[in-house]
Amino acid sequence: MVPVPQTVWVLLALSGVLNVRSCWTFTCPSICECSMKSDTCSTNGRETGEKLSCTRETQLRRLIHLPLTEVSSNAFRGLINVSRIEISQSDCIRNIRNHAFLSLHSLAEIQIQNIRNLISIEKGGFTDLPRLRYLSICNTGIIHFPDFSTMSSLVILDNFFLELGDNMHLDSIPANAFQGITEESVYMKIIKNGFKEIRSHAFNGTNLDKLILKGNRYLRNIHEDAFEGASGPTMLDVSSTALHTLPRRGLGHLKVLIARSTPYLKTLPPLESLLELEVAEVTYPSHCCAFHTWRRKHSFYRDLSADNVTDLYDINLQYPDLQLSLCPGPFQCTPEPDAFNPCEDLLGYSFLRAVTWLITVFAVAGNMTVLIVLITSHKKLNVSQFLMCNLAFADLCMGLYLLLIAAMDYHSRK
Ligand SMILES: *[C@@H]1O[C@H](CO)[C@@H](O)[C@H](O)[C@H]1NC(C)=O
Ligand SMILES: *[C@@H]1O[C@H](CO)[C@@H](O)[C@H](O)[C@H]1NC(C)=O
Ligand SMILES: *[C@@H]1O[C@H](CO)[C@@H](O)[C@H](O)[C@H]1NC(C)=O
Repeated sequence: MVPVPQTVWVLLALSGVLNVRSCWTFTCPSICECSMKSDTCSTNGRETGEKLSCTRETQLRRLIHLPLTEVSSNAFRGLINVSRIEISQSDCIRNIRNHAFLSLHSLAEIQIQNIRNLISIEKGGFTDLPRLRYLSICNTGIIHFPDFSTMSSLVILDNFFLELGDNMHLDSIPANAFQGITEESVYMKIIKNGFKEIRSHAFNGTNLDKLILKGNRYLRNIHEDAFEGASGPTMLDVSSTALHTLPRRGLGHLKVLIARSTPYLKTLPPLESLLELEVAEVTYPSHCCAFHTWRRKHSFYRDLSADNVTDLYDINLQYPDLQLSLCPGPFQCTPEPDAFNPCEDLLGYSFLRAVTWLITVFAVAGNMTVLIVLITSHKKLNVSQFLMCNLAFADLCMGLYLLLIAAMDYHSRK
């Protein structure tokens, strides 16, 4: 490479500030050395030492440390063969304009990451992106839910993968938030955001596959009709949220439910609305009990399927409308009930409970007294006193055991 005079670097630095967009549209800047893998133009002249680099591969644009305050409309025009654009770690960017990503027909992935000062992505920011199958907006400061309504992705074969994470200033998912992304099924990973609620019809018009809402610590409420107009989801993860209930409608196709570390989720929706559930991971063992009990009571379909397969076919022919998929398949639920968390109360009747407490109190108090009296008397123990001591200790242990049971019973009833 021909050595570059200092002045050219300064010029480049200036032009980098004033006209950075050129960096995205030119093929290879004459000043940079372009290898097939990457070309990096550095604006070393700026005293902030900020680095503007456009890594250029034929398939990839990676834009980091951009000294821009906004990504303007049509910023990526001309990148017709680029399949992936990543904008990250650019502290100055505050706004992504309308039509910033417009009609990029090869673009499959967009990542917008670690831009803490990004406040808004204007309506129509993602427009006409037929090949798009991965969109990630993580760790930004956006205050309005981004608009996806004009995206019109045509992903086939694959799921569309949408990731929204660490956007702490988003406080709700509005109605029809995901409409227009694609007609195909969508895998949504919406984690660790600031959401407090998910509104009615939030997922209207989407074909949900998996929905991960893990780690949205402030999420207290999913509206009853949030899944209205959507199909799916088949998997829902609401771990580490502050949810108190799950919606009663719209979870009919749910196969996997994960609700770990959700201490406020004390009641589950009616189990009739979770007919297809196969795997549940919940916080409280008692919920597993509820599932198991319910399935035992409604085992009509299972009896039927356990019978003869040919019978099943007969029924299918006679009552084609009868949904045999209703038949509960194998069902797993964790945590399993254990000795201290059985499905029933430890002490089933109040009479039993009262007697247990009574005996506990007498056994502990009485034997304790005997032991204390015998041991603190300064006379030497004779044989019968030693035996009494021994007996009192054994009975005290019995009393403590009863206390343990009574206490666990009290705890489990709470
Ligand atoms: C895009 O790819 C096509 C075919 O692979 C090629 O003919 C065309 O020159 C490329 N355009 C650009 C701007 O790279
Ligand atoms: C749900 O989406 C449909 C179009 O898919 C629309 O016509 C309807 O108004 C939406 N419902 C609500 C409550 O927004
Ligand atoms: C199923 O039914 C057929 C005839 O109805 C009978 O021959 C067969 O033994 C049955 N099989 C079982 C597993 O019950």
